[in-house]
Amino acid sequence: MNDYIVEMKKIRKTFGEVQAVKKGEFNLKKGEIHSLIGENGAGKSTMMKMLYGMYGIDDGEIIIGGEKVENLSPKIAIEKGIGMVHQEFMLVDELTVLENVILGFEPRKGLTIDFDSARKNIQKYIDHYGMDVQLNKKINQISVGEAQRVEIIKTLTRGANIIILDEPTAVLTPQETQRLFEILQNLKNDGKSIVFISHKLNEIMQISDRISVMRQGEYMGTVDKKDTNQAELAKMMVGREVFLNIEKKQAHIGDTVLKIDNLWTSGEKEMSKIRGVSLEVKSGEIVGIAGIDGNGQSELIEAICGLRKVEKGSILLDGKNITNESVKKIRKAGLSHIPEDRNVRGLNRSMTIEENIVAAQISDAPFSNGIMLNNTKMLEYTNELIDKFDIRPRNPQTLTQGMSGGNAQKIVVAREVSIGGKVLIASQPTRGVDIGAIESIRTILMDVKEKGLGVLLVSADLEEIFSLSDRIIVMHEGEITGNLQVDEADEEKVGLLMMGGKRRKEKCHE
Ligand SMILES: Nc1ncnc2c1ncn2[C@@H]1O[C@H](COP(=O)(O)OP(=O)(O)OP(=O)(O)O)[C@@H](O)[C@H]1O
Ligand SMILES: [Mg+2]
Repeated sequence: MNDYIVEMKKIRKTFGEVQAVKKGEFNLKKGEIHSLIGENGAGKSTMMKMLYGMYGIDDGEIIIGGEKVENLSPKIAIEKGIGMVHQEFMLVDELTVLENVILGFEPRKGLTIDFDSARKNIQKYIDHYGMDVQLNKKINQISVGEAQRVEIIKTLTRGANIIILDEPTAVLTPQETQRLFEILQNLKNDGKSIVFISHKLNEIMQISDRISVMRQGEYMGTVDKKDTNQAELAKMMVGREVFLNIEKKQAHIGDTVLKIDNLWTSGEKEMSKIRGVSLEVKSGEIVGIAGIDGNGQSELIEAICGLRKVEKGSILLDGKNITNESVKKIRKAGLSHIPEDRNVRGLNRSMTIEENIVAAQISDAPFSNGIMLNNTKMLEYTNELIDKFDIRPRNPQTLTQGMSGGNAQKIVVAREVSIGGKVLIASQPTRGVDIGAIESIRTILMDVKEKGLGVLLVSADLEEIFSLSDRIIVMHEGEITGNLQVDEADEEKVGLLMMGGKRRKEKCHE
């Protein structure tokens, strides 16, 4: 007898030629928060999708509540009390929160859906765990953090006592992460068991009771949080020491390559309208934009890239006016862009690695002479980037659909930083990638600036902003509240400006 409520033993899983999991082991105790960590493609999501019955196992056994379960399916997993919140949410945009939560499990009163009792029942969970969710809102009106809470409630109403969260914090701001952690603690105190996947080791050290590590499909071991530290975990995952504090090199600062003057745009929300933003980025400089998500950062980037209409003001790229030009023209003028949402804009999931890498340049030399495509050159180039950026699997003809989140991101980064040009916009460039890849992406951004590009970096991670930027611009409600050289900035100062510090002070002087 042991006290495990879940045991996964000697698990094996292959997809075509890819051995996603070779020797998978995992066990879970009642009332613990158990983290699962490992590099991109290590097999974390696959392991948990097998526990949730979404993928069958090729070999090994899954024991739930002391009973060996054959032919697990999501339906059976739910019956056994397992719930999963996926890396990509599965909510229906046009429906309300309430409708989403009961979807497929509608309580009936005669022939109609009993919304009243559903609402009462769900509200109980919301109150009990302190969740802050509004049941009447449509999904497209709520924040990412709230959508995630909805996903958690969904699992609870289906009776889950084991909740798997696959990289829940990748999309959250630091503040939202802390709120999620409070909820997880409440769930734990209620005797629920949590599986938590994340690449952020500081979070892992904050929230976990135990931590299991996977590397390239294999189980590396489980440690108690109290007996370990970040450096040891990093080494277990990667197999070598990892240095996240890359040396910041001073590059030669040249001419202004991006000049934005008194820019105004519409916003997704009232507080994210751009209201008179002016800024400059010089060649050889990384300018970091700090701000709480939803304060206009995304709108600003979209305006620069030609994805959002500029209502007033101008954008000059290397002296050329690109205001309200087409995406294609702006790219030609020398802008590359690692977009925030790689699934929507960065990557075509129905195409291969190679197609995605050459997509942006397919009509240019050396890939084409205007009429014919040069397949050899395309393949050579793709292989070069796969090596340089350590994209796994290595085969250029792999469909990106099945690729792990972090490796998908690496394809976009590889393509965009290799284009050259004048300005690189990097939005959340390391979101969802493992620490080995964070190290290499950060080093690459440094290289890019040394080669003379101007880099505009948007990141919700202040640590990232500080470690890469030469200058930090702070945005709040669509305005710039601070513009500081990195050596005159500290986290507290920037944090205050992110809350609108400067404007408040100005108001005091009025
Ligand atoms: N549906 C699928 N079809 C084909 N290959 C897959 C599929 N799902 C996963 N794989 C492959 O299995 C391996 C493990 O992927 P998995 O998504 O489990 O990694 P992960 O540890 O969750 O990585 P990440 O941190 O990037 O999310 C990868 O090589 C991936 O490409
Ligand atoms: Mg994953």
